[in-house]
Amino acid sequence: MGNKRGRFSGRLGFVAAAAGSAVGLGNIWRFPYETGENGGAAFLLIYLICTIIIGLPVMLGEIAVGRKSQMDAYGSYRNLGNKNWGMVGAFGIICGIMILSFYNVVAGWAFGYFIQIVFDGLLVEGKGNYGNYFNSYVADFWDNLIFSFVFMVLTAFIVIRGIKAGIETASKVLMPLLFVILITLIVYALTLDNAMEGVKFYLLPDFSAVNASTIYSALGQAFFSLSLGMGALITYGSYLKKKENLFKAAAVVTLADVSVAFLAGLLIFPLVFSQGQEPTAGPGLVFVALPTIFEQMGPLMGRIVGGSFFLLLCFAALTSTISLLEVPVAYLVDERKLKRKKVVFGLAALVFVIGLPSMLSAGAVDFFTNFMHYEGKNKSFLDVISDLFSEVGLVFGGFMLTLFITFKWKTKKMTKELSEGNPGYAKSILKSLVNFSITVLSPIILGVIFVITVLQKFFGVSLF
Ligand code: TRP
Repeated sequence: MGNKRGRFSGRLGFVAAAAGSAVGLGNIWRFPYETGENGGAAFLLIYLICTIIIGLPVMLGEIAVGRKSQMDAYGSYRNLGNKNWGMVGAFGIICGIMILSFYNVVAGWAFGYFIQIVFDGLLVEGKGNYGNYFNSYVADFWDNLIFSFVFMVLTAFIVIRGIKAGIETASKVLMPLLFVILITLIVYALTLDNAMEGVKFYLLPDFSAVNASTIYSALGQAFFSLSLGMGALITYGSYLKKKENLFKAAAVVTLADVSVAFLAGLLIFPLVFSQGQEPTAGPGLVFVALPTIFEQMGPLMGRIVGGSFFLLLCFAALTSTISLLEVPVAYLVDERKLKRKKVVFGLAALVFVIGLPSMLSAGAVDFFTNFMHYEGKNKSFLDVISDLFSEVGLVFGGFMLTLFITFKWKTKKMTKELSEGNPGYAKSILKSLVNFSITVLSPIILGVIFVITVLQKFFGVSLF
């Protein structure tokens, strides 16, 4: 059976796919608005710390578990642990399905923006008030429906083609292009009036704004952005050969992910400040801040540069949606021995249907738009699903992974796995640091923050 599973062609293939999974809407759409809502530079700093001291070790843990077991997320926990631990993997698979259901909706917005900028009059109609444009755009049910549908279908086709042909190729070509366009736009943005105010907000920390929920958001963002906590990297790790140096791979993926997020912030905040907007605008931030510079470039250049930007954002999102879909697909193919093609279409349809209320929750239907009220805000259906599965769920998944490695699988075995393809690892200081994080630091921080957030968000207990 083992030889029927897909494989990455080598370290570069894995790195491209894992970085493709990591880099996505989380970096360019979510990171800037989370940073904006949470006070700027201090958030950036805490996010970076979380990424290095918790994110990277957890990532190594996931990849090691996957490569050791050569199974899907559920199968990995069951094989290296037992049936009960398998539930952790199963929970991750469910998280993946739920995250994909709303992620695909936001990807649909990006796709719609690409179409509207290039082939329609976004830069004319929205002129002067891209905020209104965005609000009415996302409230339109049919636009949402059509673009998310197209996005889901694209995702499904790539996942059907399988590991090497589909996932790897898409990532290898498109990631570098994204860097190029980001840097070009940053150079342009920094020349605008008042841009330096944005740079200050982004890079000079004000720690008075930091509280428990800042730390929680930063941790949640780090997990979401690195694709951790639900078995995506267990699944990708299971397609790796023994020879690969996992530490190097994880380090490169983390670096790529952090760089894109950092650059996205360096682009967005100068724009936001030069346009006199509020950095706290929330999920619309990128969609509102960017069109103005495309407009300033003139009708033709605006279409070309703006179109390219949103197209690349779509590709970044696509290499992420394929990783999200691959997790449940791997489960059904490995465990239930079902045909890949059938599974992919079945799951894509299911996820799309689960995503319908999210599509209706940005203004189209009031019931879903003001679905719940907590943390002093009205939350849409999309917000609730995002909070539950992409913050709370991932942190919980990461917490369980650290317990699994500490108490069940044991760090000794993890070290052994990480030494394959990296003979010096067992004796290096890195090993001690990684093990300290997995057995002490991460479980404590993840566990405490998980409990605090659940109490705060869903039971209204305010501890701070
Ligand atoms: N990391 C991706 C992003 O930043 C989203 C994503 C893809 C993800 N796969 C994941 C998040 C698995 C959590 C788990 O856009």
